[in-house]
Amino acid sequence: MFDQIHMRTIDLKYLPIIAVGFPLVFLVLNAIYQLYFSSLSKVPGPWYCAISRFWLAKVSLQGRRIFAVHELHLKYGPYVRIAPNEVSVSDIDSVKQIHSSHNNFSKPLWYADVANGVKSAFAIVDCEAHKARRKAYGTVYSNTNMSLLEPVIRKHISVCVGKIKRDLNHGPVDILRWFRFMAADIVAELCYGKDMDMLNKEAVNPIVEDLTILLTIGGIRAEIPGLNVLESLISLIPHPTIKFITGCSKRIFDYSDDVLSEFQEKIKEDRDNSLGPFLFTKLINNMNNLNEKYRLNFDEIRHESTANLIAGSDTISTTGTYIIWAILKHPNVRKKLEDELKTLAGEITDAKLQQLPYLKLVTKEALRLYGAGPGGMPRIVPPGGWRLGPYYFSGGTGVSSQGYTQHREAAVFEDPYAFRPERWLNPTKEMEAHMVPWGGASRTCPGQNLAMIELRLIAALFLKECPDSVLAESCTDESMEFINYFNIKPSRNKCEVRKRIAW
Ligand code: HEM
Repeated sequence: MFDQIHMRTIDLKYLPIIAVGFPLVFLVLNAIYQLYFSSLSKVPGPWYCAISRFWLAKVSLQGRRIFAVHELHLKYGPYVRIAPNEVSVSDIDSVKQIHSSHNNFSKPLWYADVANGVKSAFAIVDCEAHKARRKAYGTVYSNTNMSLLEPVIRKHISVCVGKIKRDLNHGPVDILRWFRFMAADIVAELCYGKDMDMLNKEAVNPIVEDLTILLTIGGIRAEIPGLNVLESLISLIPHPTIKFITGCSKRIFDYSDDVLSEFQEKIKEDRDNSLGPFLFTKLINNMNNLNEKYRLNFDEIRHESTANLIAGSDTISTTGTYIIWAILKHPNVRKKLEDELKTLAGEITDAKLQQLPYLKLVTKEALRLYGAGPGGMPRIVPPGGWRLGPYYFSGGTGVSSQGYTQHREAAVFEDPYAFRPERWLNPTKEMEAHMVPWGGASRTCPGQNLAMIELRLIAALFLKECPDSVLAESCTDESMEFINYFNIKPSRNKCEVRKRIAW
């Protein structure tokens, strides 16, 4: 009896030591394993990246992952271990292998976390399922289809630039805000046959606010394992703010359900084709077509539309804003572009803009430096392993590559941080190979043709309608530094222009 009581006292006495000691021993043993025995131990990188994911999660949540990883590449070379099971790769041959459609490097579940319930091509991790989804897109995003949609795109950009022109008479104007309204209106009208009414109301649609919340939570969840357990607990608290936040997915899906059903009905009734072309008309018409091997059902189209609303809004507004910023910042570029635009007769259309050589150089250089998606695109080494450069990676290893680093490779791009459209007059093979503003081959951005139409029209219509605009004093190099949460945006979240003062 005495012995039992004595034992229990000893147990309790040692409990704190055991509670702290065991995890500590585990951490030390794990650190030794990761640093000296793991298959990635030979890949260079800081010791703290090798032993835990903490550093990567920290810089990601701080919005500076691309810079932090870029600095590691400058210090350690083309292969850097950025987490115990993840290597960042900047060697172009290896990057091409990782993203080749033949090599089956799948996406990690991280993407599904980031997408937070939006089950589109972007979030499909399995390679075969993803290929089938992309086949189902068919010609939806083709240049031919896009040129049919151009009048809708041009209509919104004209309204947007007109409103910027109007507001310039009253003081500085934040073009990022206007381009956000415009890009969301365009992509919503193309997907749902109905815009978000943002340009008209000159205010953010609540659904767009919900999408921002959804993605912010997804981004945080993707970096902090186990957060979903905490979220489930928090969601039980009956507080209005918590209810509002946890309700955002339902509101988004209810909205897309309603607008897509409405649109589907309109398409059914449109016997004389008076509705005009839209992005997903063909997919909607093919929903019940049993002869179509890769058709999508209503739910899948709904998810793709929601994904487009996310992927086609902030990307365009960010890159469009940086194009205008870069043009206004470089008077020589502006002058050449203005002269080129003066050669156009009549209404400005994208067909005419595609013929302008200098505009082509400007958009390409802007995509190199300011493409909205330059972040690490993680992938998983296929089962069986893969040799990349001097290293053999076992199946399941995470490998990522970031456009930010490839686009600033000093051995390839002279003065890589300078905005110099003329560098594209005679590009080398290496320059072309390093350009990945639309991502890697297997998952390349389907919206790139649409994006290019928007970017050309933004640059041309802005310069035409706002010839007196200059950068406002609030718009500095510092305010325009990126912050990076998967995509990038200006750190101060705005870009103000004002009217040139006439002396
Ligand atoms: C300047 C504008 C844009 C840029 C720089 C851009 C960039 C990118 C990049 C880098 C990726 C690859 C992401 C990855 O593999 O992790 C991507 C994927 C994607 N983008 Fe874009 N994008 C732009 C505009 C658009 C637009 C306008 C749409 C559609 C309306 C769109 C729809 C998508 C979709 C659906 C994916 C996922 C593709 C897949 O995984 O199969 N993007 N984009």
